[in-house]
Amino acid sequence: VAAVAQINTEISVALVGKEFSQQTLDDFLIKLDGTPAKSRLGGNALLGISLAFSRAVAAEQKVELYRYFGALAGNTAFVMPIPMFNVLNGGKHAKNGIEIQECMLVPIGFSRMRERVDAAVACVVTLKTLIEQKGHGTEMGDEGGFAPALKTNDEAMDLLVSAITAASYTTGQIKLALDVAASSLNNFDKEKMSAWYKTIAKNYPLTSIEDPFTEDDWERFAALRAAIGKRILIIGDDLTVTNTDRIARAAREHAVNAVIIKPNQVGTVTETIAAVAAVHANGWKAVASNRSGETLDTWIADIAVGLGCEYIKAGAPTKPERMAKYTRLIEIESALP
Ligand code: PGA
Ligand code: ZN
Repeated sequence: VAAVAQINTEISVALVGKEFSQQTLDDFLIKLDGTPAKSRLGGNALLGISLAFSRAVAAEQKVELYRYFGALAGNTAFVMPIPMFNVLNGGKHAKNGIEIQECMLVPIGFSRMRERVDAAVACVVTLKTLIEQKGHGTEMGDEGGFAPALKTNDEAMDLLVSAITAASYTTGQIKLALDVAASSLNNFDKEKMSAWYKTIAKNYPLTSIEDPFTEDDWERFAALRAAIGKRILIIGDDLTVTNTDRIARAAREHAVNAVIIKPNQVGTVTETIAAVAAVHANGWKAVASNRSGETLDTWIADIAVGLGCEYIKAGAPTKPERMAKYTRLIEIESALP
């Protein structure tokens, strides 16, 4: 609501009657805001305009949105991102014994998006049954994941493995990923969690850990990456906030090997492209991500494909605003050669 008010007043007065390209529009928005973190007008207001411009130009050029983004980023080899489905929640998003904010399923052993989504849907069905059998509730969190009152992090990991096998898939086909969101935890035990990460990297079919430590704990990020980063993606989100300066620092400190891309953290399409380019310049993976409180809009799917992000996080395949992103990916894939 605040974003809409900003757009209808100050921003629209400043923009109307001028000619822009994506780059000059985004530069103009950055200057108009005038703060390093877009704290005056806000990332949501600026991104809304930047994206509306992208949509309008793509429509005028009669090209799909992901192709428009691809042209801006110099990317023509469109490869589908691997989705990470957030199906089990703890931390701030739930009141249970799990510290981890998001436990995700990563279907890697499939060639088409449709199969990946079907596999995730099948696992959600078995997961629900397993949670009911344990006598827990199956209400969903904001991103559509379950938040049962499990006692430990290990119980969550075991439950996901059981859901995969109960759905007749293997842990070679479907892996696990975590977003710890350590900065949102009140009693975060760094030493205990650090040891736990190394244990689960051995004992579970784990592919990635996002925000394993708080957002300024560069050293622990680097130590974990040194310990398990050859096999596991150590992903920055609150650490890097889609900001090229923070991404550059992460490179100097060897803190991560993958980065979350949330366009409304940075504010414009041009800066999102720069952030993904910086991630790829380090040889790291980019993970496009939706937010809590999403709408049915699917532009994040086009960003992921257009900018060549290797992964996308768009919640569980249980809520319409989350499923819309996966449906859009299926649609994009079906139009690719
Ligand atoms: P959000 O982020 O709740 O700030 O949208 C989810 C995440 O931590 O990835
Ligand atoms: Zn996160």
